[in-house]
Amino acid sequence: MKPRIILITGSNRGIGHATGLELCKLGHTVLFTARTLSSLDATKQICTDKGYKAEYYELDVSKLTSIQKLHKDVAKRHQHIDTLINNAGILIDRDYPLQAVDDKISAMPLDKLETTIQTNLVGPIMMIQTFTGMLKKSSSGIIVNFSSTLGSLTDMGSGMPSYRISKCALNAVTRICATELKGIKVNSIHPGWVQTDMGGKEASLTIAESVPGVVWAATLPKDGPTGKFFFNQKEIDW
Ligand SMILES: NC(=O)c1ccc[n+]([C@@H]2O[C@H](COP(=O)([O-])OP(=O)(O)OC[C@H]3O[C@@H](n4cnc5c(N)ncnc54)[C@H](OP(=O)(O)O)[C@@H]3O)[C@@H](O)[C@H]2O)c1
Repeated sequence: MKPRIILITGSNRGIGHATGLELCKLGHTVLFTARTLSSLDATKQICTDKGYKAEYYELDVSKLTSIQKLHKDVAKRHQHIDTLINNAGILIDRDYPLQAVDDKISAMPLDKLETTIQTNLVGPIMMIQTFTGMLKKSSSGIIVNFSSTLGSLTDMGSGMPSYRISKCALNAVTRICATELKGIKVNSIHPGWVQTDMGGKEASLTIAESVPGVVWAATLPKDGPTGKFFFNQKEIDW
């Protein structure tokens, strides 16, 4: 497979971090990003030791100025990128004060909704707006949006409302972009319920078990799918 230049948001820990290392191992150049650059020090050490092709950038996906700065810095080193992985995400619905644990829309603090939408939905949109030009210069551009079955309308239940709403709307972004961005494949993925800070220790999948599905979506062949929702390489319902 031709080596790709792959930009991953939120790649200092969790699934984004492990995916980045696996993509490096496969010979791709990975642009790791994090809100705090020093949180990539350990990643940098691993990549240096293993001779991986990797770069490290600061990025807060909730801030347009941060995204524009990243674009400027990346464009100094690369004409194009081949894959954008919109992995960074937050789940703060469960951070209610104990006496207010309700986890329903009726009790959802609007500031939590706003923060979640800004990170999980507006962030990926701003990343797509900013990096589409560089993706179009790739011979096989790919965008992977990290969604969740919690955002699936087919199985929509209650609990964690702002998170569900953000991921459901992100799926709409995937469908719209897949139609609009000719020549770029755009898919949503559900990584599974994964043992990360977000997923918790009781989650059903290890990070290592989740990574292959992400790697597959980030390195699709030319005749691969677009405008779809996947879990572990299998199409799932919106
Ligand atoms: N784990 C699961 O079970 C599960 C299930 C379905 C979907 N997902 C989705 O999978 C993706 C990765 O989740 P995870 O489990 O790996 O989560 P995680 O371990 O909590 O890691 C989240 C990552 O996102 C970054 N991030 C958060 N806000 C950011 C911002 N404003 N700008 C830049 N980076 C930001 C974090 O950076 P900091 O270190 O700076 O906070 C961290 O690197 C998320 O989109 C999540 O919604 C996860």
